[in-house]
Amino acid sequence: MQRKVTVIGAGNVGATVAQRLAEKQLADVVMIDIVEGLPQGKALDLQEAAPIEKHDARLTGTNDYKASEGSDVIIVTAGIPRKPGMGRGDLLTTNAKIVKGIMEQTAPLSPDAVLILVTNPLDAMCHVALQTSKFPRNRVVGMAGILDAARFRSFIATELNVSVENTHAFVLGGHGRTMVPLPRYSTVAGIPITELMPQDRIEALVERTRWGGVEIVDLLKNNSAYYAPASAAVEMADSILKDRKKILPCTAYLQGEYNIHDLFIGVPVKLGKDGVEEIIEVTLTEEERTALKKSADAVRSLVESLD
Ligand code: APR
Repeated sequence: MQRKVTVIGAGNVGATVAQRLAEKQLADVVMIDIVEGLPQGKALDLQEAAPIEKHDARLTGTNDYKASEGSDVIIVTAGIPRKPGMGRGDLLTTNAKIVKGIMEQTAPLSPDAVLILVTNPLDAMCHVALQTSKFPRNRVVGMAGILDAARFRSFIATELNVSVENTHAFVLGGHGRTMVPLPRYSTVAGIPITELMPQDRIEALVERTRWGGVEIVDLLKNNSAYYAPASAAVEMADSILKDRKKILPCTAYLQGEYNIHDLFIGVPVKLGKDGVEEIIEVTLTEEERTALKKSADAVRSLVESLD
């Protein structure tokens, strides 16, 4: 296989990302982790599953960044995950140091790569990656909106007893409690859910989406979610590697779009071989604009506390 994706962090999210990339035959995969033996062991285990899963992707596990040289896409999942009672913001200082160190080592080896950030707090980690890598803004993008939208979609499908494939959901804003799910742009077979569900049920599903990460942390206790986050990151990699130009909710660096300046926040973007090829602006109601501003203010204060 000719395309190369490096996954940094061979923990729950990273290993699941590597598995999905290989099984979908999207690229050869290099897994890097700070723990000796961990990426090597997981890559070998995944490689040994290949004859049964019927894919020809090559998986390499290493602690040496040299192996990442010339990557098309780099997916950053390294860091500490949340424990019960922790917000994503509690991970700020530790994960910022980790992401900075990773960027210093990987960016010079793959100067043309698209960076996909998964490590939380996501919006702030995107800032660290942009600043440290010095990549153009279109090649630094965060995974959050696809996950939040997938959670919303799965709740909508269960509520209405319809196929998840018929659902679309639209989520703006930061990855956290201030996220802005937009019910009027969320549909089943093209029909807005506002026509299919009473307002109180929509509000209940929106609230469950907002707290979707916490719901999983409270159940798992020692880990945060990883199956759905990995699926979301791989959907982004797929659109970039195959230049599919899918419109997906992702965390992008805004420079005036939505009247937000110099800040990473979740918006619909077109993802292709150059990363974020376009930021799609939709007209918001007064209420939605206010909610997005509140979300942007929360992200900005987290980023400023980092500085
Ligand atoms: N370089 C490389 N790998 C590192 C580094 C580093 N400096 N620091 C930590 N890691 C590795 C850990 O050794 C571990 O294997 O990152 C991995 C993280 O894996 P998990 O602890 O299983 O965490 P995971 O559930 O995968 O979440 C990772 O993604 O969704 C976010 O909030 C989540 O920030 C967290 C990240």
